[in-house]
Amino acid sequence: MSEYPLAPASGRLRGMSESLQLNGERLWARLERLGQVGALVGGGVSRLALSDADRAGRDLLVSWMHELGLDVEIDRIGNISGTRRGTRTGAAVMTGSHIDSVRAGGRFDGSLGVLAGLEVVERWNELGIETQRPLVVSAFTNEEGARFAPDMLGSAVHQGALDLDAMLEVHGIDGTRLGDELERIGYAGTAPVAARRPSAYVELHVEQGPVLEREGFEIGAVEAVQGISWTELTFDGTPNHAGTTPMNQRLDALHVVAQLACEVRRVVEAIGGAAVGTVGRIEVQPNLVNVVPGSVLCTVDLRNTIESLLREAEAQCFESARRFAAEEGVRLTSRSLARFEPVPFDEGVISTVERCAQARGCKTRRLPSGAGHDAQMFAPHAPTGMIFVPSKGGISHNPAEWTSPDECLAGAEVLQDVLRELADAPR
Ligand code: HGY
Ligand code: MN
Ligand code: MN
Repeated sequence: MSEYPLAPASGRLRGMSESLQLNGERLWARLERLGQVGALVGGGVSRLALSDADRAGRDLLVSWMHELGLDVEIDRIGNISGTRRGTRTGAAVMTGSHIDSVRAGGRFDGSLGVLAGLEVVERWNELGIETQRPLVVSAFTNEEGARFAPDMLGSAVHQGALDLDAMLEVHGIDGTRLGDELERIGYAGTAPVAARRPSAYVELHVEQGPVLEREGFEIGAVEAVQGISWTELTFDGTPNHAGTTPMNQRLDALHVVAQLACEVRRVVEAIGGAAVGTVGRIEVQPNLVNVVPGSVLCTVDLRNTIESLLREAEAQCFESARRFAAEEGVRLTSRSLARFEPVPFDEGVISTVERCAQARGCKTRRLPSGAGHDAQMFAPHAPTGMIFVPSKGGISHNPAEWTSPDECLAGAEVLQDVLRELADAPR
């Protein structure tokens, strides 16, 4: 008998149907326990991909998978997959997400999707539920892309969208090589990558934006993931004395980046709609009070649900970057860190999410995802969709990220219903 007896059905989130109940207390306990790995003082987590904290989180997840009787595999890019066998062999229904985080992130981003998958497994085990297709719960390597770019790196290699050998050579913002870090933490697995297509993929994730909460919805049936463009730009001017160098003789790299940061905002606000732009990382050399900045590295993150408008933002921002650099006499070099076009999800999965959520009495709406997700790597190859639950204040990539126990449970129970339907759907 589980140490977490099923809590009585609570509140309207439990809905009117007699659908299968998951154990919300057990799900919350796992979220709390995983949230202790890489925990930050005051809340939130720091589990950068392939860090010691990421290794500890992986070890905990693998131990839970073994306890649940899953067949656990680690592939060559470190993706972790636990398989619950079906009554038939063949393509599995997949769910999951990631457990790596940004440097100071929340304990729901990614973790909820992985741990909801484990709760579905444990509840099916308790009830002796068998499904025709196997169910696989995965945690993908380096979804965040904060340490090693691009993001969704593990799921992209898993589905053959990025080359394994090239990704093992990626160097992080700390100068480490991804393949070395994978070896160091003991997760350079042997299972092949780009080898398997699921029969379907469905991921539960916190919205990380303000829409569901602001409009009073409990479940989001995600229609698509918007396009993502990450670029690293390095401006090389001349370090010089802050006191003796006349203003008209400066080659000040930071003056160029400051203009670019304002230009990114001007461009995306002029394009409007879903356009967003962020200069999130700036590294100044030598970064001293009395030295004119000689070299500055910065990143530009541009996104849009419409590919042509994303390209327009890229063209305008990088034309301006070249112009600002030329005006200051500063040299510009740049490289792409990530580039993904918008990805639509499968109408059948989207409507199944809607139907299952409404059957439980959850107020549901469709919406696009502003964030990138592992699910987008599966969408070109199998019926794929996502389920969102609200984020308090729309906050994420921030220790203050919060989704309530009831909201987590509601999302997990809709996930269960969708997975059960897909696992037993006629071939
Ligand atoms: O950046 C993103 O959209 C995701 O968190 N990797
Ligand atoms: Mn995420
Ligand atoms: Mn994230």
